[in-house]
Amino acid sequence: MTLLFDTHTHLDSPKFDEDRDEIIQRAKDAGVHMLVNIGFNRETIPTTMALAEQYDFIYAAVGWHPVDSIDMLPGDLEWIERLCSHKKVVAIGEIGLDYHWDTSPKEVQQLVFREQIRLARKVGKPIVIHNRDAHEDVVRILQEENAAEIGGVMHCFSGSWETAKQCLEMNFYISFGGPVTFQNARVPKEVLKRVPLDRLLIETDAPYLAPHPFRGKRNESSYVSLVAETAAELLGKSVEEIGAITTENGKKCFGID
Ligand code: NI
Repeated sequence: MTLLFDTHTHLDSPKFDEDRDEIIQRAKDAGVHMLVNIGFNRETIPTTMALAEQYDFIYAAVGWHPVDSIDMLPGDLEWIERLCSHKKVVAIGEIGLDYHWDTSPKEVQQLVFREQIRLARKVGKPIVIHNRDAHEDVVRILQEENAAEIGGVMHCFSGSWETAKQCLEMNFYISFGGPVTFQNARVPKEVLKRVPLDRLLIETDAPYLAPHPFRGKRNESSYVSLVAETAAELLGKSVEEIGAITTENGKKCFGID
């Protein structure tokens, strides 16, 4: 059986309230033997921790999303720091910059991003990066804050090869999700082919960004197999090989085992 590691998912989302256990079982049946659930604000951090405590194969990342950065209060950074000593917390994230949704001013986003990179260096955890329409500032801040010291994941990577190269130089893994399966995803497909095999990760970002042929529908972790299939086709490998490579990479990135 093909074993798969979904390195970025949100199974605590209310979109799974009706059938969460079924969705988790379906992921297991599809070969997903490890996943990282991402808690990114006041509501989703506790629900993520609950899932990580309930299921052996679910790990947690906790951080403050750029879209929510305006809501970060004094004390929240300390909260995240305390959670980092929990044995199932493997990363700080998702953190970064989002210039698409204008809910938090850029200066606030950048400050919250910087503070969390500093925290990650302090506690020695990798970071999971959310980057939407902000490639230049994300790379600049990662460089200025010396993120190479901890590395992490460029989640659902959508940038150019030039950006990918800069991130690889800073010890980041490049993770691909549903969008790489879309027929018109020329750039992501080209970038995936050029990423060194030992830096490649796959993910769903469920319930968002469902892969082809479920585009626009609710995504779920079992669909990470469709991302693996696309990667296998592009790289001329079997899905089993992609599963093994990305599992190994994910374990190394997140310090599991
Ligand atoms: Ni996400």
